[in-house]
Amino acid sequence: MLAGTYKGTTGVRQENAKKWLTQRLPQITAPAHPTALDIGCADGTHSRVLSALGYAVTGVDFSAPMIAAARELSDDPTVPNKPRWLHGEFLAGRYVDDRGTEAPLDGERFDLVLATAFVHLFPPEADDDAVRKVLRHVTPGGTALISTTADAADRQGLEIKAGADGRTAHRWRNHYTVESFMWLVREAARDVYGVKVPVRPWVVVDPDADGKLWIDVVVDRPA
Ligand SMILES: C[S@@+](CC[C@H](N)C(=O)[O-])C[C@H]1O[C@@H](n2cnc3c(N)ncnc32)[C@H](O)[C@@H]1O
Repeated sequence: MLAGTYKGTTGVRQENAKKWLTQRLPQITAPAHPTALDIGCADGTHSRVLSALGYAVTGVDFSAPMIAAARELSDDPTVPNKPRWLHGEFLAGRYVDDRGTEAPLDGERFDLVLATAFVHLFPPEADDDAVRKVLRHVTPGGTALISTTADAADRQGLEIKAGADGRTAHRWRNHYTVESFMWLVREAARDVYGVKVPVRPWVVVDPDADGKLWIDVVVDRPA
């Protein structure tokens, strides 16, 4: 995703993100689940919503411009409880913090883990590794929310993504059917947690893109 795509829409996206998150996870407004990890946080829209709800949030992204934007947008003295922004690649699990200090996350668990519009960026097999790693970061009794777009048929390959600033970039993209994405998450959850876990899907029409469907999957890790 290009950082330029996000500029100028921060306020609207943050409002929408709050509605979307509280609809999917009504329990997040209660302070019973205090830590959150936002994987592929981009400019930190979801992270800031969670911070405002009282979570201690860690946002990670491998795009330097995105992490810079996330830092800039939370660099407001009136914003309490700022997220911790980590720059690095998720599967490798190696990050640096604001000061350039190494901050590995392996073994760290969070009450809420978001991976929205994220696992579809990994090639086949690696998407499986990515989902497992997402689920490993959830503390027992905690929750993961994993989302992608839903398509009529599975397909994948390199695609060109255009930013609002007119620049383009190539990226890998998996397109899943509702069934194949559910299967991916369900199998990963069973492997990681050692038991069959209910996986709750929501399939919704994107209000901003004609005909585009999103699938949001909620997984509760057994306590
Ligand atoms: C499509 S954006 C989604 C942003 C946000 N989660 C949302 O739902 O709006 C995907 C983000 O994941 C980041 N990303 C992609 N692959 C990554 C990886 N392997 N490690 C860390 N970040 C990655 C990109 O830089 C980008 O900011």
